[in-house]
Amino acid sequence: MSALMPTRSFRAPLQTDIPRHWLPANPALSAILNIYTVIVPSNEAFYIRTLARCLPSIEDPAQLAAVRAFIHQEAEHGVAHKRFWRVLDAHGYRYRTLERVVDALAFRLTERIAPLSLRVSMVSCIEHINAFMAHEFLRQGILADAHPEVRAMMEWHFAEEIEHKTVAFDVLRAISPGHAMRLAGWLSTTCLFYTLMTLGMLLFLAQDGALWRLSTWRGLWRHLGPGHNMARRTLRHLFAYLRPSFHPSRLDDRDLAEAVIARYSPPRGDWLAPSTRGGVRAADAPASTG
Ligand SMILES: [Fe+2]
Ligand SMILES: [Fe+2]
Repeated sequence: MSALMPTRSFRAPLQTDIPRHWLPANPALSAILNIYTVIVPSNEAFYIRTLARCLPSIEDPAQLAAVRAFIHQEAEHGVAHKRFWRVLDAHGYRYRTLERVVDALAFRLTERIAPLSLRVSMVSCIEHINAFMAHEFLRQGILADAHPEVRAMMEWHFAEEIEHKTVAFDVLRAISPGHAMRLAGWLSTTCLFYTLMTLGMLLFLAQDGALWRLSTWRGLWRHLGPGHNMARRTLRHLFAYLRPSFHPSRLDDRDLAEAVIARYSPPRGDWLAPSTRGGVRAADAPASTG
């Protein structure tokens, strides 16, 4: 995978005048990405705490630099998505209790009871899910009609998920290369992630008054079925992860990430800037271990 993983801040203002239906014509997909946004900060904090625990045991300087860059990129994602919460608040959405419960039960409790190897396996699997969502959303231009600032936030996040998609998988291979641990992480993560996303989607749709509208479910059907084919594609990506020969770099989609970063960075745009929170500059980043 890419040798360069710079850390960037997302600078679009994300003012509260962003419309409630920032992705027109598909309230279900909008609700899916709203719950994704709600879960991102605590979920990514879980990745950060998990991989930070692995740092002392990583000896390869290239892998060490890749993990540090991963941590900084994920931290910036959490900051941007949390800024977007102001928009959700402005529209009167209630989601904070759910967010706190998810953080306490899905992430903090897991951290207490699961061994580090299983937590790394879970992070590796969710990073695969993030990376194939990024691939599909960017390749199919699914956010083309979204509000420009929200589209930029999501696409920048997706681009960086592609940039760092090998990192957690390579850490898992280093600390626990057996297939059983990969399978355990896959099982727990897919069940947890899709349950949370479904419940969250229903929560947002109910608050939109869109739960019982036929058009809502038609939109979801188009996304999962004949429109974006996400059900079939998701299953294909999920099961690909279980192949013994799987490696995230086998799906080379760096072109998608590069196009997004170029679109929102100078000279074409000014919503992405080098992070001031520290991190790995492009020129300093050694080859990652993919
Ligand atoms: Fe992320
Ligand atoms: Fe990530």
